[in-house]
Amino acid sequence: MRMWLLTVCALGATVAIGMACGGKEAPASTRPAVTLSGEAAAKWDTLCVTCHGKSGHGDGPGAAALNPKPRSFGDGAWQTSVTDEHLKKVIVGGGAAVKLSNLMPPNADLEGKPEVVDQLVAKIRSLGP
Ligand code: HEC
Repeated sequence: MRMWLLTVCALGATVAIGMACGGKEAPASTRPAVTLSGEAAAKWDTLCVTCHGKSGHGDGPGAAALNPKPRSFGDGAWQTSVTDEHLKKVIVGGGAAVKLSNLMPPNADLEGKPEVVDQLVAKIRSLGP
């Protein structure tokens, strides 16, 4: 039993089990974690989190200077109010593409890369309540 738990901890299989192993922050969401790969992982880790924060609470280091600030992706009412199409449009075209602030930058390099955009959408959805 103990070996089993250690192995799972070592793999860092889920945030919940990570917490059981101690030291990790409370999970932002009860939804299953989404693991990004390739370009989506690179974008999220180096760009999106700087404003949106690792948990998507809109509290990345770059967010302090922003007005308006990014909303929390943990807001359930917002999650249900927006379609995946809207999220894709924001990600590729930036805030201006959907009449939001242009402080949300466009990612023109993701145009024609639906597999990358889909992963980012899944990530945002996974941060909902
Ligand atoms: C320079 C800071 C910055 C970066 C980098 C950034 N965002 Fe944003 N983002 C914002 C701001 C500010 C808003 C809020 C715009 C508003 O409410 O008018 C926003 C809003 C959003 C929204 C919500 C749109 C809505 O309907 O409220 C999504 C989704 C989003 N960003 C996804 C991403 C993703 C994915 C990335 C990485 C590819 C990213 N953002 C990178 C600043 C940023």
